[in-house]
Amino acid sequence: MKNLDAFLILLAVRLASVFIVQTSFVPDEYWQSLEVAHNIVFKYGYLTWEWSKGIRSYIPPLVVAAFYKILQIIGLDTVTNLIYGPRILQAFLSSYSDLCFYKWSGCTKWGVFYIATSWFWFYTGSRTLINTLECALTTIALSKYPWPGSAADDKSTFIWIVALIFVIRPTSALVWVPLVIYHLAVNKESPLDTIVNRYVPIGASVLFLSILLDSLVHGYFVVTVYEFLKFNILEDVASFYGVQPWYWYLSAGLPAVLGIGMVPFVLVTIVVVKNRQIHQNELVILGTVVFSVLVYSCLPHKEFRFLLPILPLILHVSSRYLSAWSRKANSLHIWIAAIVILIGNAVPAWYFSVVHQRGTLDVMYPLREIALENPKNTSLLFLMPCHSTPLYSYLHVNVTTRFLTCTPNLSKVSGYVDEADMFYRNPSRWWQQNYSPTGGWPSHIISFDSLVPSISDILSRYKLTHQIYHTSIPESTRVGRYVLVHERIDIL
Ligand SMILES: *[C@@H]1O[C@H](CO)[C@@H](O)[C@H](O)[C@H]1NC(C)=O
Repeated sequence: MKNLDAFLILLAVRLASVFIVQTSFVPDEYWQSLEVAHNIVFKYGYLTWEWSKGIRSYIPPLVVAAFYKILQIIGLDTVTNLIYGPRILQAFLSSYSDLCFYKWSGCTKWGVFYIATSWFWFYTGSRTLINTLECALTTIALSKYPWPGSAADDKSTFIWIVALIFVIRPTSALVWVPLVIYHLAVNKESPLDTIVNRYVPIGASVLFLSILLDSLVHGYFVVTVYEFLKFNILEDVASFYGVQPWYWYLSAGLPAVLGIGMVPFVLVTIVVVKNRQIHQNELVILGTVVFSVLVYSCLPHKEFRFLLPILPLILHVSSRYLSAWSRKANSLHIWIAAIVILIGNAVPAWYFSVVHQRGTLDVMYPLREIALENPKNTSLLFLMPCHSTPLYSYLHVNVTTRFLTCTPNLSKVSGYVDEADMFYRNPSRWWQQNYSPTGGWPSHIISFDSLVPSISDILSRYKLTHQIYHTSIPESTRVGRYVLVHERIDIL
């Protein structure tokens, strides 16, 4: 298969995912990227606490902001372009990273097939999520890495990319700890020379540039990498967003992310461990996976998307295994394996991309119509878990909005309860504390259907105007099957 053919197939898959994936995954996809960029370019919006505390690098949102700025200048800042443009950009980067994956995996058909069919990468590969960017950059760096035995002798490119990954997402650089040690150990240069001549100058340049950029945008001197580690690990703010048991990545994380891909992964692990003398690179890759999962398992807050940087490692060894197996297998067995892998991935890809959790995005289109029709008198109140929906990047109208916030206990107040928890404990009391009995009420209330019984007194002055399917399997009691829009009666 020619490189160009492989690239076109992979590009087609990633671009298709831009339009097929219509569901929401995690709030960060909007709140750490599109909303930040929208606020920079259009001068209205909402920035979450991460931005006022300076724990995130502005590098990724600035790329989106530059794109938004161009749209603004040429007068094409339509909401469709604001939503799909950044995803198309990401899809191009992801398909380039897929091409790198294909080359790294030895330019095999299984390499293309395996990366193109991975359901989780299909689901996340075109999202404006920092973890998607991490995964794409990690794959590109892995393909540039001077693996012993490969012809590539470019020794520095991967270090540049790893340094970039580190400044935009310190935790994902974890994957690189074993690989950097391996590089230092097997490299022909002495480890000290490599560190002094390559790692230090490249790392220092990237760090310097990122500090400069972040300090310029934040308006004060800030080292976002340091602030990020301080908040997430030392002060353990991340646990605020949920704590999972230590074995969660093994019992839930990996099986869900890999799906049917667990089978080749388990098989290749057995083969590599048995024949570790002849599969050194693969052994190092598996060691890296084990190391990363181990460290991630020690952190209390766990999420599926945190596995994205190790996904290319797993897919790589699995596709190499399948390719070696298919050289000996008969073609009927190969076809059966390919079809089982395809269907095993297509089912979750379809369900999660098209069905599960789509209401919080779909509701933004009628809300935009409402906001456009009467911007002065529209005020939207989202009574849902914080950041359930995107906001101004999908509205692109400067109307009044309010949602329940969930800022962690940053100032260490004892007995701290965030606004969302406060609301869910007693919705009526929250309402009385925030709205006067006589008026000034929001024109529209957006909520899940499951909330309606507890806010029926509030809704007595509202009527239902939209009921939008969200999911059949709500992930918590605060999420429902439908998203509802209620409109205040007296504004008719
Ligand atoms: C957006 O609306 C708010 C509140 O009405 C106003 O203070 C702000 O200046 C507006 N921003 C822009 C860029 O129009």
